[in-house]
Amino acid sequence: MSKKFSKEPLRGMKDFYPPALRESNWIIEIIKDVAERYGYEEYKTPQLEPIEIFAAKSSDELVNEQSFIVEKKKGERLILIPELTPSLARMIARKSQELKKPIRWFSIPTCYRYERPQKGRRREFQQPNVDILGEESLYADLEIFNIIVDIFMEFGATAEQFQIYYNSRRFMDAVSNLILRIEKDKTPLVYKALDKSDKMNEEEYEKYLIDTFQDEVIIQSIFKLKDAKSVDELLGKLDDIPEEFYQSDGYVELTKFERLIKEVDISNYCTFSSGTVRGLDYYTGIIYEVFDTGKENIRSIFGGGRYDDLLSIFSDEKITGTGFGMGLYMLSLFLKTYNLIPDEIKEKDYSDTIYIASINEDMSTYAFELARIIRDEDFPCIIDYRFKNLKNQLKKANELGVVIVLIIGSEELTDRTVTIRNMVSEEQKTVDLDELINEIYDIIDQFGDNKFDQ
Ligand code: HAM
Repeated sequence: MSKKFSKEPLRGMKDFYPPALRESNWIIEIIKDVAERYGYEEYKTPQLEPIEIFAAKSSDELVNEQSFIVEKKKGERLILIPELTPSLARMIARKSQELKKPIRWFSIPTCYRYERPQKGRRREFQQPNVDILGEESLYADLEIFNIIVDIFMEFGATAEQFQIYYNSRRFMDAVSNLILRIEKDKTPLVYKALDKSDKMNEEEYEKYLIDTFQDEVIIQSIFKLKDAKSVDELLGKLDDIPEEFYQSDGYVELTKFERLIKEVDISNYCTFSSGTVRGLDYYTGIIYEVFDTGKENIRSIFGGGRYDDLLSIFSDEKITGTGFGMGLYMLSLFLKTYNLIPDEIKEKDYSDTIYIASINEDMSTYAFELARIIRDEDFPCIIDYRFKNLKNQLKKANELGVVIVLIIGSEELTDRTVTIRNMVSEEQKTVDLDELINEIYDIIDQFGDNKFDQ
């Protein structure tokens, strides 16, 4: 016997059978609806990009250790996009003169990261992105926070179930440069260290800090910066805060942002977190990650922030942007944990599907003719090709939950009529072809709207 191939998809990838796809499409539709409600438009980028644009802006780890690289014949290296933001920046840079600002765009890309598959993380995943570009004010960040809250509310989630943990890169710059006196060129390493703090165990983390900094003062500072849950708590841990810190852009921006989220009444969904610094290099302002507050799902569901200089690798223009990417896989785990996926989504609804059962094969092309009339009216229609056994055909229609079955035999074929069977009341009647659609609507009316709602 010849060797059989594995039926499994590649490690870290998933086959979406119709029920799983139905569920993820349902989630995507809700996200799209919310984005559109805020005036956002959908865009799409290629799956493959030159590796350089990610190497220049994302993070070394993402490009060197976590990417799928495709080599072209002439040695040119392409990357299967591990995230969308550099591609978005490229698209904006390409047409920046024509695009009206602020640009409000969303996209639902498939991304690839070569990381260890685990709960909430795959190697191929969908990551809806929502970004606003060309709006410098904090109102853009505030809008993005509102979109996140609305997405969760639309699913029925509460502030007890999720939180947006936020911080500001500018604020952390001010803390590390003006209070802790860490040299500016070391701050990226400090951010990296903070980002890793909850991704390693204590021993590994200490070793990582010693290897990276070899400086006890910086290491102690990182421990102080790690897990404050409010600005006051963080500042309370630090000595000798100079007046210029309170004048710094970072402090002023973050405290204003906190006032705004309070004033628009979303502060119960948001928690300051000094350890949230984001692993990607391009962030410059307000940054955030969304987590399940329970113990079930420990990885971030959303991640995002403000980036001021992303376009600089493509042109001399400066357009600021802010937005987020969300892991669809993480979001669906979250929704399942809190039972927020309605049962109706789990099974395909056949209640508005018209089912054609024929007594024998002589009616086959008549069945096709009927089906065309029905589909032209926008009703889904299935023809049963087993032709012989009417009982079996009706049984199948019943199993699917079909409400209307059209039965055709030799009389119907000769007279150009059709027998309509209402599977719920079990009533049957024979009507002329030109009455068919009205009869279908009559039955639908009897069942009210619910049964036939999409
Ligand atoms: P990120 O934090 O790298 O940000 O990813 C955002 C979200 O994508 C994560 O919170 C997570 O839910 C999901 N995600 C990441 N890796 C995986 C994976 N291997 N499997 C499943 N889901 C995953 C970014 O990518 C930024 N470009 C987001 C952004 C948009 N910033 C501004 N605009």
